[in-house]
Amino acid sequence: MSMISIKSAREIALMKEACQLASRTLDHVEKFLVPGISTLEVNDICHEFIIKHGGIPSCLNYNGFPKSICTSLNNVICHGIPNKNDIAKDGDILNVDVTAYLNGFHGDTNRTFHIGIIKPENKKLVDVTYDCMMAAINLVKPGVHLGDLGAVIQEIAEANGYSVVREYCGHGIGREFHEDPQVLHYGNSGTGLKLKAGMTFTIEPMINLGKRHCKVLSDEWTVVTVDGKNSAQFEHTILVTESGHEILTVST
Ligand code: MF3
Ligand code: CO
Ligand code: CO
Repeated sequence: MSMISIKSAREIALMKEACQLASRTLDHVEKFLVPGISTLEVNDICHEFIIKHGGIPSCLNYNGFPKSICTSLNNVICHGIPNKNDIAKDGDILNVDVTAYLNGFHGDTNRTFHIGIIKPENKKLVDVTYDCMMAAINLVKPGVHLGDLGAVIQEIAEANGYSVVREYCGHGIGREFHEDPQVLHYGNSGTGLKLKAGMTFTIEPMINLGKRHCKVLSDEWTVVTVDGKNSAQFEHTILVTESGHEILTVST
C-alpha cells in the first residue's frame, strides 16, 4: 500500500528551507560551469556550499552513492558520478542535480547548463526539456491526475521528435528523499492518483534527442542513452496548494 504524506504548514515551512538551499546551490555553482571544469570540482563546490549553510548533501552515501551530487554530461541521462577525469568542454551540456537535507527535510532540484557555446540542436533539446517540466508544473492543483502531468510532458517531447525516459521518474519527497507517489513523465491524462493539497513531489523529466532506451554503466549508477545521443533534464520540488501549486525550489 502506498502512503502519501500530506505536509502541515509547519512542515512546509521547514522543508522550504531545504528546497531553497538546493536551489541556491545551483545558483552558486553556475558561475563555475565553464570549459575545463571537472565534474569532481562541481561536486566539491556544491558540497562546500551545502555544508556551509547548515545542510547535508542527500546523495552522499545514499544507497551507496559515493559523491554529494549527480553530474550528468551529454549522453548521460542521470546519476552521473562526479569524477576528476570528466572534464566539461566547450559545447557540452551538463546536468547538475542537487538534493539538500536541512531541518529534517529534503529539497531536490536539477538544471541542465550550457558549457560555453552549445549547438542549436542541443539548445533546443535543453529548452524543450525545460518547457516539458514547466508545462507539467503549471497543471498542478488539487484534483488533477498524475497521468495529466505525464501526458503533457510526453506530448511536448514527442511533438519535437524527442523521447521520454521511462525507467526513472519523479517522486514524493519530504522527510524521506524518495517517497510515494512515483511521478511518471509519460502516460495518459485522466489516469493515476488525484493530487491533494499538502502533497510534495518532484517533476524531473529526462528527455532524449534520440531513442528513449537507457542502460546503466558498470559503476552501477551512471545511466546513459543506448544510442549515444544527448539527454537533458530539469527538476523542481513542488507543493500542491489549495489554489494550485508552489515551486519550492525556485530561489526567492
Ligand atoms: N537527485 C536524484 C533525483 O532526482 C537522485 C539521485 S540518487 C543518487 O531523484 F544516489 F544518485 F544520488
Ligand atoms: Co528527484
Ligand atoms: Co534530483
